[in-house]
Amino acid sequence: MEPQNSDRREPRRRPTYTIRRIKPSDFSEVAAILAKSMKDDDLYTAVFPRREEHYDISLDGFLRLTKERYWTPGCVMYVAVTAPDGDNCSHIEKIVGHASWKRTGTSPAAQIWTSENEGGWNGLQLSLCRTQDSLARYFQPNKTIVEKPPPSPQFDDNFPSSIFPELWYLATLAVDPEYRGQGIDKLLAQRGIHHAVEENVPLGLESSARGRKLYDKMGFKLFKTTVIGEMAVPVMVWEPPRPSVETEKAREWQGMNGTTQIYTRYP
Ligand SMILES: CC(C)(COP(=O)(O)OP(=O)(O)OC[C@H]1O[C@@H](n2cnc3c(N)ncnc32)[C@H](O)[C@@H]1OP(=O)(O)O)[C@@H](O)C(=O)NCCC(=O)NCCS
Repeated sequence: MEPQNSDRREPRRRPTYTIRRIKPSDFSEVAAILAKSMKDDDLYTAVFPRREEHYDISLDGFLRLTKERYWTPGCVMYVAVTAPDGDNCSHIEKIVGHASWKRTGTSPAAQIWTSENEGGWNGLQLSLCRTQDSLARYFQPNKTIVEKPPPSPQFDDNFPSSIFPELWYLATLAVDPEYRGQGIDKLLAQRGIHHAVEENVPLGLESSARGRKLYDKMGFKLFKTTVIGEMAVPVMVWEPPRPSVETEKAREWQGMNGTTQIYTRYP
């Protein structure tokens, strides 16, 4: 008979993760991850110094933000989830990370993303979200800030369309604190890189101190430094490699000239 503590026991498997698009049923879980993740984030600390004392307000704010983004044309949102390990039939998926991208530009490739949630029912949902947000702000003063929040640079200040006519912008990247240190951030960021390479468009983001290491490793370059409150924030850009002559020729042959043009004047 086998001894109970035999060395032949199966080693405990490390969970694997997969990335998929967000669904409305994920909103609450994503908001909770954002509220937990941003507790120790330097940028959020500067803007919302009292967010821990008023965790429920912070959570509510992230829920409204998540919903609003979902219905905003050009916003492309992903979640990282636990994947079944093959023989576990009763696997219950858990969301462990989230990334929100925004595709800007007017090219046909950009229009494919913006038309995904444009008009009709989506427009109505977006108006409802915005109205709900205004009402919440009016009736529930934001106690997570001390006085007036410090002025934050707008998207156009950091990524002017004269330099970045087309862009994949990473608005948010967050991993559940209990699942950190397993490379989930990279999986989420790679999804944007995949789109950027396919469409030959640069990626841009404003980096937190924690995120900086990942972006440096992935090949993002410092474009400029912006200031939020009293904090210097790196604005970083990743450029897709120029397509090889063979790829260009193959695309030309397939009549895909339009998709290979270089969409940036960033030096
Ligand atoms: C930045 C962030 C997304 C990184 O997520 P992640 O999936 O833990 O990233 P990684 O697995 O690559 O780990 C990052 C580093 O933390 C280390 N780490 C290990 N265990 C850890 C743990 N339990 N908790 C935190 N960090 C851990 C890793 O070793 C790694 O260091 P290395 O690059 O020297 O190997 C996450 O910390 C986060 O959500 N932070 C708050 C929001 C934020 O700053 N987002 C970036 C916005 S631009």
